[in-house]
Amino acid sequence: MDELNLNQVARAARCWSGYRSANCSGTSDWSLHAVPDIGDGSTPGFVVRLGIPFVMSTASTVGLDALCEAAGPVRWFQLYMLQDRGLATALLARVHAAGFSVLELTVDTAVTGRRVRDIRNGFTLPFQWNARKLLDVSRRPRWALQMLRAGSPTLRLFAEAVGRVPSGSTITEVMQQQISNAFTWDDLAWLRARWPGKLVLKGVVTAAQTRRAVDAGADGVVVSNHGGRQQDGARSTIECLPYVVEAAAGRLEVLADCGFRTGADIAKAIALGAGAVQVGRPALFGLAAGGGEAGVCQAITILADEFDRAMAMTGATSVGSLRGRVEPGSMDAPSDRR
Ligand SMILES: Cc1cc2nc3c(=O)[nH]c(=O)nc-3n(C[C@H](O)[C@H](O)[C@H](O)COP(=O)(O)O)c2cc1C
Repeated sequence: MDELNLNQVARAARCWSGYRSANCSGTSDWSLHAVPDIGDGSTPGFVVRLGIPFVMSTASTVGLDALCEAAGPVRWFQLYMLQDRGLATALLARVHAAGFSVLELTVDTAVTGRRVRDIRNGFTLPFQWNARKLLDVSRRPRWALQMLRAGSPTLRLFAEAVGRVPSGSTITEVMQQQISNAFTWDDLAWLRARWPGKLVLKGVVTAAQTRRAVDAGADGVVVSNHGGRQQDGARSTIECLPYVVEAAAGRLEVLADCGFRTGADIAKAIALGAGAVQVGRPALFGLAAGGGEAGVCQAITILADEFDRAMAMTGATSVGSLRGRVEPGSMDAPSDRR
C-alpha cells in the first residue's frame, strides 16, 4: 500500500482476528524502550506482521534506516516539531523519502509535564548508574546481559536529526531542549505545505481544536492526553471523544488513544465514533513481559480477541454496526466541554 488511506486503516478489517472486521487498533508511538535488542527497531516487524500500523517516534532509539528495514510497507511517523525549522525540514524530507506516508504531529508537548517518577528514579540520558540501579539490574540478569550486548538506549533518531546525541538530567529536560515550544496553528500551515502525505494531529481533545484541525487541512486527529503523562487530572480521552467526533462531522478521521486496556475498551471508542484506537503501554507491557516480539503479538492478539467478544456480546456483526451503540444520555456533556 503506497498511499495509505486512513479510511482503510480505520475500517477495512485489518484481518488479524476472526471477525475480519474487528481490527480497530494500531500501536502508538513510544520512545526509549528500555528493552535491549528488541526496542523500536524490531517492534514494527511483528506489529506489521499482525497487519496494523506502527507509529515510529521522533524519540526512537533506532535510526530511520534501521526502522525502515523492519517496518514493512505501512509506515507512520510521529513528529515532535524541532525548534530549528531547517533541521525539521530536512527530517521531513528524509522521512518522506523513506516511504512514510502518514505524519502524526504530537501537539500536546510544547510544555513537557513534570514527570516526578523520572526525577525520583534518576531516568537520565545517557543512563547514569547508581547503587540502586545496579541492585535493580542485578536482579534481572537476562535483561542485564542483553543490555550489555546492545548498549544503553539513546535517542538515535534525534541524534541523526540534530547532529548529536542529546543528553540531560531527565528525559523531560532533553525533550525541552529539542522540541519547539512555540508551535502555533499558523505554523501548522507551514507544515501542511511541506508534508505531501496524510497529516494527523495527536493530542486534540476539544471540539474547537478539531474544527481548527479541519481548517488547517489535517487528515486526522488522535484524541490523546499523552497517556496521562503530561498533566495529572487531564480529561480522559473516552470522555472527549464524542465531542471531537461530532465536530469532525466526517471531515477527518478520528482516532483515540490512552488507557485502552481491553478489547471492550476499544469497542466503546468505536461505538462512540472513533475510526480506530492506538495502544501504547499494552504493547509495551507485552514487550517487557513476553521478552519481545512474542509478547507484543500476544498482547495485541488478546486485545483483538476481547474486541471480537465485546462486539459479539453487543450483537454487532461488523465494526460499522458497532458504531452508535451507546446508551442514550450516557455521554451527556457539561456545557464547558465544548
Ligand atoms: C514509554 C512511553 C513513551 C512515549 N513516547 C512518546 C513519543 O515519543 N511520542 C509521542 O507522541 N507519544 C509518546 N508516548 C505517548 C503514547 O504515544 C500514547 O499517547 C500513550 O502511551 C497512549 O496511552 P496508553 O499507553 O495508555 O495506551 C509515550 C508513552 C509511553 C508510555
